[in-house]
Amino acid sequence: MITNRNILTLDEFTIQQLRGLPAATGELSTLLRDIGLAAKRVNVEVNKAGLVDILGDYGSVNVQGEDVKKLDIFANNQFMGVLKHGISCAGISSEELDEFVVFDDEVSNQSKYVVQFDPLDGSGNIDVNISIGTIFSVYRRVSTLGKPCTKEDFLQPGNAQVAAGYVIYGSSTMLVYATRRGVNGFTLDPSIGEFSLSHPNIQCPASGKTYSVNHGHFFRYEKGVQQYINACQKKDTTDGGPYTQRYIGSMVADVHRNLLKGGIFMYPGTTDKPNGKLRLLYECNPFAFIVEMAGGRATNGKQRIMDIQPTDLHQRTPMFIGSKDMMDELDTYLNNQ
Ligand code: AHG
Repeated sequence: MITNRNILTLDEFTIQQLRGLPAATGELSTLLRDIGLAAKRVNVEVNKAGLVDILGDYGSVNVQGEDVKKLDIFANNQFMGVLKHGISCAGISSEELDEFVVFDDEVSNQSKYVVQFDPLDGSGNIDVNISIGTIFSVYRRVSTLGKPCTKEDFLQPGNAQVAAGYVIYGSSTMLVYATRRGVNGFTLDPSIGEFSLSHPNIQCPASGKTYSVNHGHFFRYEKGVQQYINACQKKDTTDGGPYTQRYIGSMVADVHRNLLKGGIFMYPGTTDKPNGKLRLLYECNPFAFIVEMAGGRATNGKQRIMDIQPTDLHQRTPMFIGSKDMMDELDTYLNNQ
């Protein structure tokens, strides 16, 4: 097979992008390359999940009180391992771990970044062969360089993110990441084992016709959310058709689709769980950064997701995210209550 040399690989693209920045030391590109490597390893296991005994519950319950699948553990160890052995990360926190992990060695203590990740989001879908994903965000540490990183490094608001991204293990495997310079998507080319730039400069359409929400919880949502969902069901879009409801139950897949095609994704609070289900640090902040960098918006219904000051590594928040015009319209319903 002849490789198309006009298509940049993830490493080539990242190095080219960051080389233009005067203050860049190359640490961020190394970090993103490490994440790409872990993603490739996880991808191999996800692809054979139906074939080997790795499929299924690990038999424990994670800090969120949810069943932990074997692949969650595998993915967690891959991302943690690759970042620990790299040269750009001072420590991590993960949705799978109660506490953050400090890579307390000479090289890591000199690293200026910490990484937060959800190693395998949507893992409830593994057994039924539906797309799942990894979500990550990168922060510049606020603690003293040369010393071990601290909890403050992990409790920064989303607006301090330097980069964020996700990997979707789907009909093809893609890595999408955002920096303040834009959002770019890379598709894994299995013939050469490289992520190759396939979706340059992703822009979230200002509007769309897809709304994504768990309808099963409808009567537990607040009035404004119910009214907005009702309005979505009555909509006629500019091209004459009604809105479409699409909800996979795997946020990476739902938000990925809406990011590319336009749409809104909602995980509101409910009467029994006012903060909803999604985690601020591992799911909401990274997606808020990516979607905002692509021109969309993300809120908790009251304030911008990225302005929330985290107080707990595992706190949850209601989440509304997507195309700007659809988010603006949602606000009119939520503000009317
Ligand atoms: P999990 O990783 O435990 O499978 O959770 C997935 C998240 C998110 O990806 C998805 O959008 C949401 O939970 C679905 O939750 P509901 O089933 O409650 O709608």
